[in-house]
Amino acid sequence: MSNIEQTLSIIKPDAVERNLENEIKQIFKKNGFSILKEKKIQIEKSEAEKFYKVHETKPFYDDLCSYLSSGPIVAMVLEKKNAVLANRELMGATNPKDAEEGTIRKKYGISIDKNSIHGSDSVENAKIEINFFFNV
Ligand code: CMP
Repeated sequence: MSNIEQTLSIIKPDAVERNLENEIKQIFKKNGFSILKEKKIQIEKSEAEKFYKVHETKPFYDDLCSYLSSGPIVAMVLEKKNAVLANRELMGATNPKDAEEGTIRKKYGISIDKNSIHGSDSVENAKIEINFFFNV
């Protein structure tokens, strides 16, 4: 049985601002991901609060939501075999300082907040996050 999965990826404001959108998409394609859907949008802080609700008790929640809504982002639905895990491996650790060579966050991340990219952390959350942006 093939376990082709879909996952949500977001190119965050720091990367869009630096015009890294196409480079990052190429990395996904080179690594075998299909980009099934994509849209460039700027969201309201209230929408970011809903998206990151899982983090609402964390001390960084308010800054995180302000940041995600601070500029344009690119939301994408990525598809590949075991896409959720494969995407997390390709992104690298949340903190770019801890990310391994060859990962997107190692290459482009500036700080734990400006870490260039978001990816769903489970198949279940991927469905919720894809639905959030694409309402499928
Ligand atoms: P992301 O994968 O988008 O999920 C939540 C984000 O919170 C995370 O990337 C980081 O950019 C941000 N963040 C800020 N501080 C922390 C922290 N101490 N631990 C985890 N995530 C953090």
